[in-house]
Amino acid sequence: MSSDADGGSGAEVAALSDKGSPGEDGFVPSALGTREHWDAVYERELQTFQEFGDTGEIWFGEESMNRLIRWMQKHKIPLDASVLDIGTGNGVFLVELAKFGFSDITGIDYSPSAIQLSGSVIEKEGLSNIKLKVEDFLNLSTQLSGFHICIDKGTFDAISLNPDNAIEKRKQYVKSLSRVLKVKGFFLITSCNWTKEELLNEFSEGFELFEELPTPKFSFGGRSGNSVAALVFQKM
Ligand SMILES: C[S@@+](CC[C@H](N)C(=O)[O-])C[C@H]1O[C@@H](n2cnc3c(N)ncnc32)[C@H](O)[C@@H]1O
Repeated sequence: MSSDADGGSGAEVAALSDKGSPGEDGFVPSALGTREHWDAVYERELQTFQEFGDTGEIWFGEESMNRLIRWMQKHKIPLDASVLDIGTGNGVFLVELAKFGFSDITGIDYSPSAIQLSGSVIEKEGLSNIKLKVEDFLNLSTQLSGFHICIDKGTFDAISLNPDNAIEKRKQYVKSLSRVLKVKGFFLITSCNWTKEELLNEFSEGFELFEELPTPKFSFGGRSGNSVAALVFQKM
């Protein structure tokens, strides 16, 4: 598995997956879909950050963040729009948003160590107005709602690999998204496990495709495709 599916050598077409037998939806249930896995990852990354100042993996590479910010710029999303990063990990994208000028930014993650790492990264950058919360997106606290923009970079992918009824969890994800996003609000998803068509199907209830963002193409054995899908949906 690699997090650099988008910005790296291009040789690896990475998917958030593991070896094993596929479930009903074709995905192989994996530790990558569990909180224990991400807790362990971010505990390690937190330690590395404290020792060496290294923020760790940027999922799908730097370009994946620039692509989203370019889209927001192109569509003149106001800098005071409320933005939620779902499964923020190390919080690096929150920092990018704040540096760009966004002033109402929230990052959530169900891993307390991810939120601790995000807090440390944000503090080191001297940024103070970013909200962070340990929150399971599939079991939300009531305070989270009314966002203009929701971002997902790799979180829906991870949830799709949950060994415990991933199909139900994906449905719950769509419900939670409907709850936190305003009507006409935008949902920007970057995925390496789902194609555009599959994502359209997953988010068909209550969401409409607004735009597909260009991602690098790969060719192999006479076939070509995209290693990563990046879509913008609008809530109906
Ligand atoms: C592949 S990582 C991506 C991290 C970050 N979005 C990035 O682009 O670097 C997936 C993230 O989703 C988080 N996550 C997975 N399931 C979650 C859930 N149910 N609620 C909140 N966060 C979740 C994990 O803890 C992890 O930080």
